[in-house]
Amino acid sequence: MIFNDTHVAKKLLENGEVVAIPTETVYGLAANIFQEEALQKIYQIKQRPAQNPLIVHIAQTKWLSEICTNIPQKAYQLMEAFWPGPLTLILPKTNKVNSIVSAGQPTVGVRMPAHQLTLELLQQLDFPVAAPSANPYTKISPTNAAMVDHFYQGKLPVLDGGACKSGLESTILAFEQNQVICLRLGAISLEQLEEVLQEKVLVKNQGQTSVIAPGLAKKHYAPNTPLVVLEDINLIPLELVNKRVARILTYGQKTHPNDFVLSKQGSLEEMAENFYATLFAIDQMNFEVIFIEKFPDTQLGRALNDRLERAKFQQQLSIL
Ligand code: TXA
Ligand code: MG
Repeated sequence: MIFNDTHVAKKLLENGEVVAIPTETVYGLAANIFQEEALQKIYQIKQRPAQNPLIVHIAQTKWLSEICTNIPQKAYQLMEAFWPGPLTLILPKTNKVNSIVSAGQPTVGVRMPAHQLTLELLQQLDFPVAAPSANPYTKISPTNAAMVDHFYQGKLPVLDGGACKSGLESTILAFEQNQVICLRLGAISLEQLEEVLQEKVLVKNQGQTSVIAPGLAKKHYAPNTPLVVLEDINLIPLELVNKRVARILTYGQKTHPNDFVLSKQGSLEEMAENFYATLFAIDQMNFEVIFIEKFPDTQLGRALNDRLERAKFQQQLSIL
């Protein structure tokens, strides 16, 4: 069921239902953070492992003191610069945050999404919502209402806020002894963060930090069609781009009917915006394999390359 009335979403959320909501990054599966059964439904619907925590979404900073404590000065500085926006901060939680949200960890992830409709909805609620990305576990994150509807065969209520502007999940930061650590590259680049903080942000993945981000599984965000990542897309002979082979060009012009171009102008923002939706569209077209070229390793290109690493096909292809 797709609708665009926030009052409908409000009623459902108050009744302990899970509602898919738009954000500027990707759609999320939202539930009341104070209703345990509603939170459990998120995990069931998404088929998500229980040890993977959820991000809390707020529209007003008044919720911060309810859900987290010991907020570092740098966190305030980042909120000031980037909220509402695609930045998630991992902060020590209060005991008001159900351990289902935090997956048993002492911290909670929190962000204020920059999406008008969702901000309006959140302002009407007397609770924040927890929301992971709306994809079933390991699938591509949905960046429009139709994608969500497709994944759940029309069975989930979806608040339609149009296509997501950034198209890439939020950047996740944690704080360790006053050092800012990036746990997930995302829609806000390291360059943007470092400009505000005037210091280096450490990029760490699991195992390198005491902060655990269990959702950063190796295989994630994958299309159903095998995705092969190349240093240079021109390395595939054009004859190979036949009926069953799709080619994603990060920028430039289409030279074959099976070419899909992420950004004609070569804008990283536009590439991010179209990334998941393009993979999804190709998945509906019965291709045998998708070739994609690596993104430039700077700004949003780093986050996009991170997603490629997780989405790519893990075995050798016989046609190569
Ligand atoms: O852009 C986004 O962040 C989207 C939209 C819907 O807001 N949400 C999203 O949620 O991407 P999800 O659950 O798909 O990814 C959140 C990641 C997971 O990898 C999770 O493990 C990590 O954030 N995370 C959440 N809470 C955490 C915590 N307390 N400590 C460490 N990692 C945490
Ligand atoms: Mg996700």
